[in-house]
Order: sequence, then structure tokens, then C-alpha cells
Amino acid sequence: MTTKSMAVIGAGTMGRGIAQVFAQSGYEVYMHDTVPAAIESATKTIGKLLNRAVEKERITADEAAATQKRIHAVPTLSDIGRHSLIVEAVIENPEIKIGLLQAAQPMVTDGGILASNTSSISITQLAAAVERPDRFIGMHFFNPVPVMKLVEVVRGLQTSDETVKQTIEIAEEVGKTPVECNDHPGFISNRVLMPMINEAVFALQEGVAEAEAIDEIMKLGMNHPMGPLALADLIGLDVCLFILEVLHRDLGEDRYRPCPLLRKMVMAKRLGRKSKHGFYRYD
Ligand code: CAA
Repeated sequence: MTTKSMAVIGAGTMGRGIAQVFAQSGYEVYMHDTVPAAIESATKTIGKLLNRAVEKERITADEAAATQKRIHAVPTLSDIGRHSLIVEAVIENPEIKIGLLQAAQPMVTDGGILASNTSSISITQLAAAVERPDRFIGMHFFNPVPVMKLVEVVRGLQTSDETVKQTIEIAEEVGKTPVECNDHPGFISNRVLMPMINEAVFALQEGVAEAEAIDEIMKLGMNHPMGPLALADLIGLDVCLFILEVLHRDLGEDRYRPCPLLRKMVMAKRLGRKSKHGFYRYD
């Protein structure tokens, strides 16, 4: 049996989740981040989540250990090796993403796929910066990655049918449910989700209700697992603001204008769970 392998660039919340999912499905995973502390923290988090799965008797201790062993931390990008799939999951900054994608492209095997987990940057734009735009695709995972079933498979203008087909097969192989859409600002997920979050922030700003009440209404009335403000804290308020700015700029409609309170919170570095303070406190 041949060993399956892949690489993830970025060991943040999304990158570490993607690494865990592939390692649990038997892939040798090469996880790169330029910040050693990020790799260390990712390895610890994955270990904790695997231990929890052992406690809950979902996997055995041996399986947890084998999964952890399949994740290789790689501090230097050029050392990740060659793989049929490389997924980029770094900060939402086109310049940074393009730089890393260009550096990673020689490490994709012939016929392999280079994917981005971007939540809002145009796949067509990123694809235009690499040598094989036909082998480039959006593979958009959702937070928390080990729990959420969806992978939004985003087809850029030049993405080939074969690349889409293979990406769908890979997502299914690792236990996810892929759903395809075309490259357009915010794709489907964030074009629909972010206006709801933004509206909840406007309601808070206007004093329509307290944060807890807004979230409770959406949880109990709409059966959402968490309210929009708690969800914004989970995603990161800076990420929400960035996506809304993309929607506002690229779709050119006032209805996507980011709420001033959201801007203020990002300026104050109240970014949600990651800074331990957003619409709620996480002490
Ligand atoms: N990482 C891994 N697993 C996690 C986790 C995390 N950060 N947070 C929770 N879980 C797991 C728990 O371990 C638990 O698993 P077990 O059943 O094995 O114990 C399971 O999820 C349920 O967790 P809890 O019982 O603690 O809490 P819950 O039932 O309230 O679920 C939740 C938590 C899964 C986060 C749920 O509230 C939920 O689904 N929220 C909505 C999340 C969502 O909408 N995500 C998409 C965000 S948008 C995005 O990511 C993309 C973008 O482009 C912005």
C-alpha cells in the first residue's frame, strides 16, 4: 500500500484542524509554519483533542498515538517534501498567500493540487499567480475543522474539471461533505453568513438588545448552534471585518458595509476568542 501524504501551510486554527483531519484519515501530514510557537501550540491542541477522543472511547490510545505520529512539524517551507496535495491556510492577506503559494508550487507532484483555504480572497486571483492555475482550487474548511462536515470547493475561472473532481474525492475520503460553488466574493458561505453577523453587530450598536439576548434569540428561534455574536468571536472579528470589506468592495453594495462597532472592536484588538475578549470574555 502506498503512503498518502499532504502538506498544510499555516498551523493556526484552520491549519491545525486540517492537519488533524488528514492525519486521522491515514495521511502523513507535513505542517509548516514560520512561527515555531504556532507549530508547538498546534501539536499540543491536536494532542488534547485526540486524548479527548480516547477518553470518549471513539478511538483507541494506539490510534491517537499513530495519528499524532503522522503529523510532522516542518519549520522551513522548502523541507515539506513533494505531495499530491498542498493546502495553504495562512492569514487572509493576498500578498502573503501569493508569496507562500509561489514558494510551495514546486513541491506539488505532477498532476497534484495546490489549494487555498481562503474564506474570501478570489481563487481566480490567487490562481493567476501560480504556474498551474488549472490545478489550483479553493478548499474551504469550517471552524472547528474536526467537527464541521462541510468543505466548500471553490472553482476558479481556470480550475480544471479534473481538479474539481479530485478535490471532491479527497474531501470525501477524509470524511467531509464537499459542496461545489464558483469563485465569487465571499463564495456562498460568507456571502450569506457575514451579512447576518454584521446585522447582529448593528443591532447591538443601536441598542436593540444586549449581546446575550441577540444570540439567544437566534439560537432558540432559528435553531442555530450558537448566536451570531458568539460565532463572530469564534471566527475572529478581524476575519469577519476583512470578509465584509471584500464583499463591500467587490460586490459594490452598501448592504455589505461593515458595522462601525465591528471596526472599533478590531481597532481595540478585541478580536474574539483568540484575544480572550470580543463580544464576550473568555477567561
Ligand atoms: N476544536 C475541535 N473540536 C471542538 C472544538 C474545537 N475548537 N470546539 C468544540 N469541539 C467539539 C467538542 O470537543 C465536542 O466534541 P465531542 O462531542 O467529541 O465531545 C463537540 O465539538 C461539541 O462541542 P461542545 O459540546 O463543547 O459544544 P457545542 O455542542 O456547543 O458545539 C460547536 C460547539 C461545534 C462549535 C457548535 O456550537 C457549532 O457548530 N457552532 C457553529 C460553528 C460554525 O458555524 N462554524 C463555521 C464558522 S464560519 C468558518 O469557519 C468559515 C469562514 O470562512 C469564516
